Amino acid sequence: MRSLIAPSILSADFSKLGDEIQAVLAAGADVIHFDVMDNHYVPNLSFGPVVLQSLKKRFSTVEFDVHLMVTPVESLIDAFIDSGATYISIHPEATQHLHAAVQRIQDGGVRAGIVLNPGTPLGVLDSIINNIDLILVMSVNPGFGGQKFLPESLPKLTAAKSMIDRAERPIRLEVDGGINVENIGLARQAGADMFVAGSAIFESANYSTVISQMRALIDQKS
Ligand code: DX5
Ligand code: ZN
Repeated sequence: MRSLIAPSILSADFSKLGDEIQAVLAAGADVIHFDVMDNHYVPNLSFGPVVLQSLKKRFSTVEFDVHLMVTPVESLIDAFIDSGATYISIHPEATQHLHAAVQRIQDGGVRAGIVLNPGTPLGVLDSIINNIDLILVMSVNPGFGGQKFLPESLPKLTAAKSMIDRAERPIRLEVDGGINVENIGLARQAGADMFVAGSAIFESANYSTVISQMRALIDQKS
């Protein structure tokens, strides 16, 4: 699977959000990561489906990767399907009916992901791996951009990659949190093929330079 770079717009300048997205796409981004926070599941508040709806009007062909950090999650799944998400990922802790929530996403024609917090064991995937399109390994605790990458997420990525190989299905392995040019190559070696980066991109002076450096590191054969 081709490796994908997914800038998290949580770290963008919200006063010019559309232009920020235009800029990272021109700089080589593949997918836009859309972090939805509700001040309940996580102690922070970001943006909701109407924002995605507006962005899809301007960027109709762009893929949006929606990361739902909300509880309850069910009604927002429907709203994000209607708003044009390409991927919707949910935390197992945010629903009492994980299998049904995954099915609800896929019934809407959207690819479904499961997100593992640093404290969530891989075992939660055992009964659902044959039904999902993506596994997202959090390399920080969810809630804020700009946190430090947790190195213990590397062996977790390796273990998740083995599960994917055993499942013999095309499941993406995404990593999210503290990703930068220093650690993206390690995440790639551990098996990730989709890389979220917020502050490392949006707080840099030149988006193209960082994204090109990241691309070179993840395209390297290892
Ligand atoms: C954290 C979010 C991440 C975060 C990434 O809860 O899910 O997507 O915004 O930002 P950085 O790359 O700055 O850690
Ligand atoms: Zn995220």
